[in-house]
Amino acid sequence: MTDRTFTMIKPDATQNGHTGGILEMINAAGFRIVAMKMTHLSEAKAGEFYAIHKERPFYGELVEFMSRGPITAAILEKENAVEDFRKLIGATNPANAEEGTIRKKYATSIGENAVHGSDSDENAAVEGNFFFSKLEQF
Ligand code: CMP
Repeated sequence: MTDRTFTMIKPDATQNGHTGGILEMINAAGFRIVAMKMTHLSEAKAGEFYAIHKERPFYGELVEFMSRGPITAAILEKENAVEDFRKLIGATNPANAEEGTIRKKYATSIGENAVHGSDSDENAAVEGNFFFSKLEQF
């Protein structure tokens, strides 16, 4: 699968009512939504999704946060999707995020940073398949 990336609108942004605003920014930047669902991750599922960060000091905090409330998961399609989406969301720490990025506008801290974006084509496929069956990817 090429030119696709995976995103989650995280529990902080969901709770603060920013789902619509974030989806608008995603659409305005030219991404096409090819899969989408709202769901609530269990601690086990959040831990599995972020297993790559298991040894990091913030892992426990991250798992607790990501299972705190509902999220919206989506697969997005666009030429150069992974790189362009990471530009659109901005730096992990919103203090370093550029003007016009989703995290600049909606993130509150490095942990509670409003959105996730895949960091490679390979991870985009793994992460999309974590949430969506083949029948749910259009
Ligand atoms: P994300 O892009 O989803 O990938 C890993 C997540 O871990 C990251 O966004 C943040 O939510 C979180 N994270 C990264 N660094 C830190 C940190 N230093 N402290 C707390 N959470 C972090």
